[in-house]
Amino acid sequence: MKIVEVVDIKKTFDNKMAVDGVSFEVKKGEIFGLLGPNGAGKSTLTGILSCLLAPTSGDASIDNKSVVGNPMGVKKILGVIPQDIALYPTLTARENLYFWGRMYDLSAVEARARAEDLLKMVGLTDRADELIDTYSGGMKRRINIAAGLLHRPKVLLMDEPTVGIDPQSRNHILETVKTLNNQGLTVIYTSHYMEEVEFLCDRIAIMDQGKIIAQGTQDELRQVVGSDDVIRINVVGATEDTVAELTQIPLVSKASLKENEIDVLSKKGRSVLADVVAKLNEREVKINSVEIQEPDLEVVFLHLTGKNLRD
Ligand SMILES: Nc1ncnc2c1ncn2[C@@H]1O[C@H](COP(=O)(O)OP(=O)(O)OP(=O)(O)O)[C@@H](O)[C@H]1O
Ligand SMILES: [Mg+2]
Repeated sequence: MKIVEVVDIKKTFDNKMAVDGVSFEVKKGEIFGLLGPNGAGKSTLTGILSCLLAPTSGDASIDNKSVVGNPMGVKKILGVIPQDIALYPTLTARENLYFWGRMYDLSAVEARARAEDLLKMVGLTDRADELIDTYSGGMKRRINIAAGLLHRPKVLLMDEPTVGIDPQSRNHILETVKTLNNQGLTVIYTSHYMEEVEFLCDRIAIMDQGKIIAQGTQDELRQVVGSDDVIRINVVGATEDTVAELTQIPLVSKASLKENEIDVLSKKGRSVLADVVAKLNEREVKINSVEIQEPDLEVVFLHLTGKNLRD
């Protein structure tokens, strides 16, 4: 069942098309990734979905509430984690969360309780009475996430929540997103980091120059490239005859030997691996190491646009 529907959204600034006819759907309970390089239009789209920017044309609905027609309805059920930190530097973390809770119409008691729960969730209870100004970038981001969750949204919209922070905070954030999703929250996760989107997302839309150039599950996107997985095996004692035998294995498209390295190409690298290893054992070839390279989203992006995701 879909909970988010985006229909042909366009946004022009002066003469510049920042978002150029974007459509997609997000199903209830999924983590949907929006992957794209700098300037792709991710934040503009995020701004429109969170009702901070009006689209030039098109519309989107969150749980059947239109961002154009019913922004108040959308704001009640959508949690937004903006790319830029939206916290008061001269208040403590606890005070910030209480303040934002009250802004979301929580009662004083409720706002206090939610602040405590969320401080615990982001692992900052111990530091809650320090001023935001004195926080590291990663800690600020974690409080920023807590702030977006105060009103128990059904859908969470995150715009590059891990840019420019330490690896520990980054991992903490990624794990938090997984946990929240396991508890039933639907997430739209914007990033230009392929690994994050690969780790988190059920389905992904790849965005470039205001347009969605491909969308689907990770497997579907890899199929766009159509290239094989490569199984690279470092061996001792292999002959051309043995390698020729490997090509007889179902789903193996090619096998080649170069010095002490065999490359086996297959659409389904992981599935054929056992048969390949068994055949080499049978021919008494000693295996030193095995490595599988699958086409990743970086390759998909390169294939579709002719450029790298990060330059
Ligand atoms: N307020 C604005 N006025 C004019 N142009 C804008 C405005 N906001 C964004 N743009 C332009 O729209 C395009 C998309 O920008 P946007 O910030 O949405 O990209 P992004 O994918 O979020 O990039 P990043 O990864 O750098 O955050 C860019 O070319 C940007 O310069
Ligand atoms: Mg952005």
